[in-house]
Amino acid sequence: MTPGRPPPEGSPPEGITTEDVRRRRDFHRRLHRWFETEGRHDLPWQRDRRAYAVWVSEIMLQQTTVESVRRYYRPFLARFPTVRALAEADSDVVLALWSGLGYYRRAHNLHRAARLVVERHGGRVPRRLEDLLALPGVGLSTAGAIVSLAYDRPAVVLDTNVRRVLARFWADLHRRRGENERGLEEIARWLLPAHGGRAHTQALMDLGALVCRARDPDCPACPLRTACPGPPRESDRSSGRASSPRRTKVLTLLLRRDRRGRLLLVRRPPEGIWAGLWCLPEVDPRFFLRDGKSHRLFTRRLHRLTHLDLDIRVVDIPGGEGKGSGETLRSWKSLEDLGRLGFPPVIRGMLESLFPA
Ligand code: ADE
Repeated sequence: MTPGRPPPEGSPPEGITTEDVRRRRDFHRRLHRWFETEGRHDLPWQRDRRAYAVWVSEIMLQQTTVESVRRYYRPFLARFPTVRALAEADSDVVLALWSGLGYYRRAHNLHRAARLVVERHGGRVPRRLEDLLALPGVGLSTAGAIVSLAYDRPAVVLDTNVRRVLARFWADLHRRRGENERGLEEIARWLLPAHGGRAHTQALMDLGALVCRARDPDCPACPLRTACPGPPRESDRSSGRASSPRRTKVLTLLLRRDRRGRLLLVRRPPEGIWAGLWCLPEVDPRFFLRDGKSHRLFTRRLHRLTHLDLDIRVVDIPGGEGKGSGETLRSWKSLEDLGRLGFPPVIRGMLESLFPA
């Protein structure tokens, strides 16, 4: 990958001093020199620069680590190599390939968006930012990443890593511009090079991910260290994830089989952690506590999510049918069908232990 060429200097936007302009030049020079030798040039999604492939990777990388996405990206692209293949796929198959990656709403949006790209753009992922922004699940940062990484054009990308790098290095200018989101976006736009959008975006992402990390930034290894005021320690600490208390939520699921041995399953509502995935029906535990109904506990598992522990209990309650709120579909499925449906991995694991093959 070639590093971004230095940007033209032009007349600086309002409020920008000659010292800012000098720092900008220095910022680009140091960032791109560092990126050539220390940046990531061999990520799986850097081999296929088609806009479709970049788009899939950027959606997977939202709120998800590079390490997790590595395991999902190739199988997904192998199964859906083109926008058309994805658009024509059954949503259960899409969700089954996404299962385990989390934030399932992303998979629904990607699938819907693929259909829109076929309808509106003949199956070609649009090049214009406005057309990309009109697709479900594509925000400014994702659209900017597609434009820059696929088409190598300059575009603002402000994901959490990039935002952190800019907010730290440009803290003074950011303060002068109101220290708000808009101010940071203006700075990001001002920093865009005339050419080499791809290297610029990737270099910023890499510096944020590898060096300018949220909690333990490696300032001695940073190419910008001599000109950077460094991370504001107090606010870093107060916004740290470690400080938020963990909650435990009990999730009571109903195990119900019919005379043919089929299992009662529901499709989860389109919002929430397991959006659109299949699951056992959820029951309100107050239902059997209040009515004094006897219930049988089949299995129980503690499942750790980012901010929450789920205490999942699979029970049978005679006469209990589940509360059904928000479910989009309820259906009896044979055990042979289970392999073809998209389940949250923890639920699949529990079903496999209840019904070993
Ligand atoms: N996070 C978001 N987009 C990314 C990319 N293209 N490479 C690495 N990490 C990312």
